[in-house]
Amino acid sequence: MIELKNIFYSYEDKEILKDISFHVKKREKIVLFGVNGSGKSTLLKIINGLLFPKKGKYFYKGNEINKKKLKDKEFNRKFRKEVVFLFQNPDSMIFNPTVYDEIAFGLRQIGGNKDTIDEKVKYWADKLGIYKYINEPPFNLSGGEKQKLCLASLLVLEPEVLLLDEPTANLDPKSTGWLIDFLYELDLTTVITTHNLSLSLELGDRGLVLSENHKIIYDGNLDDFINNFDLLKKAGLVHTHKHRHGNLEHKHYHTHDF
Ligand SMILES: Nc1ncnc2c1ncn2[C@@H]1O[C@H](COP(=O)(O)OP(=O)(O)OP(=O)(O)O)[C@@H](O)[C@H]1O
Ligand SMILES: [Mg+2]
Repeated sequence: MIELKNIFYSYEDKEILKDISFHVKKREKIVLFGVNGSGKSTLLKIINGLLFPKKGKYFYKGNEINKKKLKDKEFNRKFRKEVVFLFQNPDSMIFNPTVYDEIAFGLRQIGGNKDTIDEKVKYWADKLGIYKYINEPPFNLSGGEKQKLCLASLLVLEPEVLLLDEPTANLDPKSTGWLIDFLYELDLTTVITTHNLSLSLELGDRGLVLSENHKIIYDGNLDDFINNFDLLKKAGLVHTHKHRHGNLEHKHYHTHDF
C-alpha cells in the first residue's frame, strides 16, 4: 500500500532523512520511534504528501506521489481522503469557527450531500465525546479535546491510512486507554509515533526506529525491539542520568515509563 524507496530529505542543507526504505501493507499497524529531531514528523509529512523527497521515491497504491501527481485534482481528492494525518500540535490543524465546521470541513471539500454531512459530523462528534461543544469555537476546548476534534475531522472522511504524530501526548490516562481501544477496532493502516515504550505495544505490532543520524536502525517485531536493551540505548530511547539519594550519587538507566 505504501512504499518508500531510498528516500532522502533535507531542510536547506540539513539532512533529516537518509536512505529510508520500507513497505507498509494494508492494515499494518506501525509504531515509529526516534529521539527528538530524528525526523519522525518529517517522515509522516512525506507519507501524507505534504513534503516531497529530495531523492528517492514514495509510492501509494502504486502511484508515485510527487508535486505533479498531486496537481491531478481527482487523484488529489482521493489521496487526501484516503491518507490523513493527525499533527503533533492540534492547534496547527484547527482553523474553523465552530467544532461543527471543523469536522465538516473535509467533507464539504469533497462535496457531499448536506444531510449526509450533517449526519456524519454529528456521529463523529458524539463518538469522540465532543458533541456538547458542537456549536462552540474550537479554541474553547482543552488540549486533549482539541486532539479529539482533529481526530473526528479526519475520521469523518473514512480514510484508509491514518498517520498519527504522538496522539497520546495531550491525553489523560482515561482518554489514552479509550484511544488505544478505538484505534484497535478501527482496522485501518496506521503509522503512529510515540515516545511511550510500554504504550506502543498496544498501538501496533511492527516497530520502525529512526536513529539520531536519521537512518532506519530497526524494522521488525515491536516486542523484540522493546525487549532489546542495547537497541533501545542505540536509538536513544532509554537514558542515563545521575541520581542522588542523600549523599550517594549513582548512575542509572531510565525509560520514560517502565
Ligand atoms: N520547516 C523546517 N525547517 C528547518 N528545519 C526543520 C523544519 N522542520 C523540522 N526541521 C528540523 O528537522 C529535524 C527533524 O524534525 P522532525 O520534526 O521531523 O523531528 P521529530 O523526530 O518529529 O522530533 P520530535 O520527537 O521532537 O517531534 C529537527 O532538527 C528540526 O529542527
Ligand atoms: Mg515530531
